[in-house]
Amino acid sequence: MKVTMSVIKADIGGYVGHSDTHPEMIARADEMLAKPKQDGLLIDYHVTKCGDDLQLIITHQKGVDNEEIHKLTWDIFIECTEIAKKLKLHGAGQDLLADAFSGNVRGMGPGVAEMEFDERGSEPVIVFMADKTSSGAWNMPLYKIFADPFNTIGLVIAENMHNGFAFEVHDVKESKKITFNTPEEIYDLLVFIGAPSRFMVKAIYHRDSGNIAAVSSTQRLALIAGRYVGKDDPVCIVRSQGEFPAVGEVLEPFASPILVEGWMRGSHMGPLMPVAVCDSTPTRFDGPPRVTAAGFQVSGGKLIGPRDMFADKSYDLARQQANEMADMMRSHGPFEPHRLPLEEMEYTTMPQVMKKLEGRFTDLE
Ligand code: F6R
Ligand code: MG
Ligand code: MG
Repeated sequence: MKVTMSVIKADIGGYVGHSDTHPEMIARADEMLAKPKQDGLLIDYHVTKCGDDLQLIITHQKGVDNEEIHKLTWDIFIECTEIAKKLKLHGAGQDLLADAFSGNVRGMGPGVAEMEFDERGSEPVIVFMADKTSSGAWNMPLYKIFADPFNTIGLVIAENMHNGFAFEVHDVKESKKITFNTPEEIYDLLVFIGAPSRFMVKAIYHRDSGNIAAVSSTQRLALIAGRYVGKDDPVCIVRSQGEFPAVGEVLEPFASPILVEGWMRGSHMGPLMPVAVCDSTPTRFDGPPRVTAAGFQVSGGKLIGPRDMFADKSYDLARQQANEMADMMRSHGPFEPHRLPLEEMEYTTMPQVMKKLEGRFTDLE
């Protein structure tokens, strides 16, 4: 059977500051999805959070970019914004950049990752959710999962994966896309995805079958709004097992924390820490950035789960390393590479300071 999985999320108010999502919002979102499920619009749903982002994980049979599904999630975000306003949560409605729904939540602020697939005999799916970072944060993990044999031994020794995967990459500044075949084009691919603030892995396909393997949200809020309105805090859906990497291969990249952009005021680099959902509460210098992983067996479209994949003790060392990396980055204070390069910073006082000091700049000899 064909199933569509839609993961649609928004930060519509933080509790306290930008550190968490209020339980009342999660409860209301849950309530609002019960009726559409009863009525058959949805097969199933799970509401969760990653830091200050409300996450709606939905299965249905309407295909991607479906107006009814998108409208439903938009209405939930609007309704939960009312709760945020009532409780005076921080930044109520911050990700809702449009006044009224117009057919699709894409480009309206919420982050969206959706895929339609033919459900297999066993369909394990991992939904990754991150807070205090941007969509490019998935580039390195996705590369490791689907193209690096040092991470995914299946690429070498599993016959059904040996022909590799195709990476669809988006240039979010120029609004262009290109597809690279791995393994033969990995050097070309890395030229682009190694610059994750501009080039982002949008989707990955199994080359032999053409089946979709992964999809990520690539919305850049700042590019949509034309100003800083909060970080993208991206999501990503990855299918696993069989012709796709095993669950352990899908999770393995997160055992070695990497530096990503988006910490404090969207303007700092910091380590991406894998955590259980209950620990997705970035409070140290509004961080460090977090990633959670909800694992499901999809059965007739029903979401069997979630299992909180990073609750496993085997990520304790990664968390410890991330904390040490956080200390090291913090010791740079307002200096790069902790602070982002000027052109990547989400907001800066540079224009005002420049203006004030205009007359004091003189030419070099
Ligand atoms: C980072 C983030 C926070 C805020 C910071 C200032 O992605 O969300 O670090 O940028 O707390 O928040 P405002 O401007 O809402 O006071
Ligand atoms: Mg926030
Ligand atoms: Mg957030």
